Amino acid sequence: MLENANALKAQFEEALSKVTTTAEIDALRIEYAGKKGLVSSLMNDLKNVPNDQKKEAGMVINQVKQFVEEQIKLKTEELIKLEEQRKIDEAESYDESLPTDLGLGSYHPITLIQREVEDIFSSMGFIVEDYSEIVDDYHCFEALNIPKHHPARDMQDTYYLDNGQLLKTHTSAAQNYIMRKYGAPVRAIFPGRCFRNESTDACHENTFFQLEGIMIDEDISISNLIYFMKTMLSEVFKQDITVRLRPGFFPFVEPGFELDIQCTICHGKGCPSCKNSGWLELCPCGMIHPNVLTYGGIDTEKYTGFAFGLGLTRLAMMKYGIKDIRMLNSGSLKALSQFTDK
Ligand code: DAH
Repeated sequence: MLENANALKAQFEEALSKVTTTAEIDALRIEYAGKKGLVSSLMNDLKNVPNDQKKEAGMVINQVKQFVEEQIKLKTEELIKLEEQRKIDEAESYDESLPTDLGLGSYHPITLIQREVEDIFSSMGFIVEDYSEIVDDYHCFEALNIPKHHPARDMQDTYYLDNGQLLKTHTSAAQNYIMRKYGAPVRAIFPGRCFRNESTDACHENTFFQLEGIMIDEDISISNLIYFMKTMLSEVFKQDITVRLRPGFFPFVEPGFELDIQCTICHGKGCPSCKNSGWLELCPCGMIHPNVLTYGGIDTEKYTGFAFGLGLTRLAMMKYGIKDIRMLNSGSLKALSQFTDK
């Protein structure tokens, strides 16, 4: 009996030394310390031991039992710790043979063109302002000389929110805010995302970017407007740009214009990019309507000003030769990462 107990103990120690995982120690527990395990069957054998040896045999078996349980407990704790550490090591480890040259991220073409135009205007003394994408009717329309029921409201299909506010349909919505904030004289540009409830195609998107600008001072005239537009566009396209003004109607400017640039591809001769006209429509603009100045708290006896609403999305498409406007909102890294500010 005693021999059996010692043999079992030795056998257990041998098996234990080979265990390396918690699954294996579980199996070992069942094999030795389980209800029908080897230690239990040793206990059962006790009944066959002569009475005078029972006490001693019982003690020895109990010692083996305690030893087995204690060793299993210690080994289990040790293995759990080891396995946790292994998981941490795996999570933190990396494969040194993987290629590290994954390339740098890139800016969205709209961000590139926006920064470029901002730099140009900043160098000419313009402040760059930010403005909310959610605005109220007053700022988007009323303060721009577009009263309720004015037909000009139909030019812009507006997304209205449940609380009566709306998604800004044009960056002009910030004009009043800028005039109130800075007073006159002021030179400011304010780029922003605009929203219109339009169906989309290669040239139309319901979400697009504009960059608005105003300059208000004494004696500001159309020639100032032309000078700043021409300078900015020549810088953006890195060539001398010819512009022309055509009359255009916008309730917040008087007179209002459509500013066209001579096609940078055919230089005015006519090509598919400019629909053979030689000109590209780029930037509506005009002299700020006296009513709009008044809404902005500006003294119309003393000051005049110009405003323009540059289509930033349009400009990016022209500069980078992007044929489908929807690509800009597609989130496709393959398409969007090919542009640089060079
Ligand atoms: N806000 C106009 C639009 O989105 C564009 C515009 C026209 C802006 C004339 C101006 C301007 O500042 O003077 O349709």
